Amino acid sequence: MEKKTAVGIVGGLGHIGLIQAACLAKLGYKSIAYDINSAKIKDIQRGKMPFYEPGLEELVHETMDNGLLVFTTRVTDLQEAEMIFICTGTPALPSGEADTSQVYSAIEEVARHRSNQALVIIKSTVPAGTCRKIAAFLQERDLAARAAVVSCPEFLREGSGVQDFWKPSRIVVGAPSRETAEKVAGLYSPPGIPILLTTWENAELIKHASNAFLASKISFINEIALLCEQVGADIRVVSRGIGLDPRINPHFLEAGIGFSGPCLEKDLKSLLRQFQEAKKEAKLLEAALRVNEEKRREIVHKLQAKLGGLRGRRIAVLGMAFKPQTDDVRDSHSLPIIKQLLSAGASVTVHDPWIKSPREGRLAENDLPGVEWASSPHAAAQGKDALLILTAWPEYRELDLKQIKDCLAVPLIVDGRNIYESGQLRELGIDYQGVGI
Ligand code: UDX
Repeated sequence: MEKKTAVGIVGGLGHIGLIQAACLAKLGYKSIAYDINSAKIKDIQRGKMPFYEPGLEELVHETMDNGLLVFTTRVTDLQEAEMIFICTGTPALPSGEADTSQVYSAIEEVARHRSNQALVIIKSTVPAGTCRKIAAFLQERDLAARAAVVSCPEFLREGSGVQDFWKPSRIVVGAPSRETAEKVAGLYSPPGIPILLTTWENAELIKHASNAFLASKISFINEIALLCEQVGADIRVVSRGIGLDPRINPHFLEAGIGFSGPCLEKDLKSLLRQFQEAKKEAKLLEAALRVNEEKRREIVHKLQAKLGGLRGRRIAVLGMAFKPQTDDVRDSHSLPIIKQLLSAGASVTVHDPWIKSPREGRLAENDLPGVEWASSPHAAAQGKDALLILTAWPEYRELDLKQIKDCLAVPLIVDGRNIYESGQLRELGIDYQGVGI
């Protein structure tokens, strides 16, 4: 394969960083993935991935074997790269504000260890205005000649991250000059994919507004679901009918217990903070967040009402991951819902096809005190007073529900993801409660 220039990736072991590094290496760039976590680098060199993402492990092995993907803990190794992607986390502070400190320190570190100028391309999701602030920050420290800031937001979804890299919906690059933006877009622009070259602020806001729009769409359908339950309508049919309008489209109209995971909620909260800082009200976005939070309480109330209280009740929970096809439980809705069950006095047994213990979910031992981990959905259901479905794993759709009913002490299924047909469950004698059906 033709060897192209070198690129650097800071935060090279995270979801965005590792996908970026492996895919760019596959394209022929020498990808230097820099991360401070030497233990995880050793793991990956021994063949143990830091997380699961379909198709990624093979890509990492292939590109490591041909020498195009290298991992390092030495920032000086980034010197040979002219373009360096910043993929560090921007976790939410208690106020909801995104903590951009890792982005600042990564860029400063990169700049301090260079002799010439690199383009530092921010993939991390940062509030609008951050690139401009970082440029001033570099200027104040006399580092502007060693790092020029570019915004290139990442839109990939967990579980289809590699596929999304090859076929992105669009490529957005924000830079002070068109020439710089073109250079970054030129790294990988598959034919037919729209490219938007714009300013820093536009690029930063496009990322936040996209995630906020997706979140609002989910909250919208979840709000309509409330009324469906009252008037005897089925949200799945209503959603289908709405989504057939091409101006609306069918995506992100699946009602359930709402959105969770490391991005949508965090980015929505960060956007709300940006409104606060600008002294503007964001009524619609605030409502989208409130509706989502309410969904998590509603499902517990539903269970409580059905069982006449939760104290001493044994609940089987299916699904820990924030969505199917990922082993990520970061900010998963399952955590607060299970905590509500525990604090109402229930005992909880969980099952997830990919996460079989707190360690596999990278949870602290005391995150979910007293919770048992079952090896199968049937083992989880055995002798329980209800089955609660929280993640729409495909294998849960295939369960033998007659067997599940026989396992349960009380034939009650509360389904936060609407994965079954009400009629079929009723015929089996199961009390089935979905969301908006
Ligand atoms: C999201 C954005 O989609 C992606 O573009 C961005 O880069 C990162 O954030 P991700 O968090 O991986 O991606 O998951 P996504 O597929 O968007 O789902 C987020 C949450 O919304 C999940 O909890 C999912 O179950 C929920 N969801 C999604 C619904 O409740 N209903 C839907 O119709 C769609």
